[in-house]
Amino acid sequence: MTERTSVAIVGAGPAGLLLAHLLDIAGIDSIVIDQRSREEIETTIRAGILEQGTVEVLTDTGASDRVRTVGQRHDGIELRFDGEGHRIDFAATVGRGVWLYPQHEVLKDLIAARLAAGQDLRLGVTADSVEGVDTDRPRVIATGSDGERIEIEADVVVGADGSRSVVRRALGGSSSGHFREYPFAWFGVLCEAPPSSEELIYSSSPEGFALISQRSATVQRMYFQCDPEEDPERFSERQLWDILQARVPGTTLKEGHIFQRDVLRFRSFVAHELRRGRAVLVGDAAHTVPPTGAKGMNLAVADVVLLAEALRALVREKGERLLDAYPERALSRIWKAQHFSWWMTSMLHTSPEATDFDRRRQVGELRSVVESEHGRAYLAEAYTGWPLAR
Ligand code: PHB
Repeated sequence: MTERTSVAIVGAGPAGLLLAHLLDIAGIDSIVIDQRSREEIETTIRAGILEQGTVEVLTDTGASDRVRTVGQRHDGIELRFDGEGHRIDFAATVGRGVWLYPQHEVLKDLIAARLAAGQDLRLGVTADSVEGVDTDRPRVIATGSDGERIEIEADVVVGADGSRSVVRRALGGSSSGHFREYPFAWFGVLCEAPPSSEELIYSSSPEGFALISQRSATVQRMYFQCDPEEDPERFSERQLWDILQARVPGTTLKEGHIFQRDVLRFRSFVAHELRRGRAVLVGDAAHTVPPTGAKGMNLAVADVVLLAEALRALVREKGERLLDAYPERALSRIWKAQHFSWWMTSMLHTSPEATDFDRRRQVGELRSVVESEHGRAYLAEAYTGWPLAR
């Protein structure tokens, strides 16, 4: 049996769920499918920083109030290198801020909003393929949790299904894109401890990079640079604290039980095609950034804001002009965010092949940023997010 909707969305991450929410506000129906369970979606630990524009989209559209009540506004970050801390004051330089509010909390809010509005969200449903993208009746072929075949026909199919996107294959080759790998990764820990710092500390030290982030009054998130092949179980808790502490000289870390650890690989990727006919990509299906600039989820939100506008024009006025313009408009921000993420990454991490020249040049680069009003302003502008097309 074939079901029909205006927009078939593959993937119930931030991109897919927010798109469904924005379409619903515009009176456009959609079906969202995802192979994961609600529990898995709501508990997987991901990024934590929301740009001001992301927060405005979530609150202005009624998707989340909790981001402002539970989330914490941060007006700056610290860059630490060569034994000294340098605060980048977002409020003073660009008059904007960011919010610390974990991605899985955003997902809880979006799922709750979607269910409260009685919209169609199907979890445990795996997309197998997308057909007919060159017609005006593209279809998603999927398998339900009991093994039944599901076929959803729509005006447009949206791939919001992450870096291993099934929808991307329908656009021409799953590996087709601009790609870069990095010779390091992040070792991430979650621990039961009070915050060691009020704001995030991005620290470049001779031992390698570390990031001191937070989650709440009792849970903290921290990362340190490691080998991409590192085994997360290799270290004792004592060793992890010693590694972290050595990389943030000047701050005494408040220690506590480490209850989760993971290794995050670093990749930069931009798909060659963001659209073919009636299939479109958003979020990680379209691009991946290394986590240093905290851009991943924010970039997904920016794609979705543009695409929602294009889909409103398509479904309501039967106009394809904005859909035609979507890739170029989205790519302009995507490449700026790619640059910023690469720049923050390369400026703060120690490459295994780095020479003494490279390390001294890196400190020179960091100094040129923190000692220049314009350098600080560029970092603040990019970190808090360029304006959204709203
Ligand atoms: C996090 O808190 O998980 C986090 C914060 C900033 C980043 C990346 C991750 O750049």
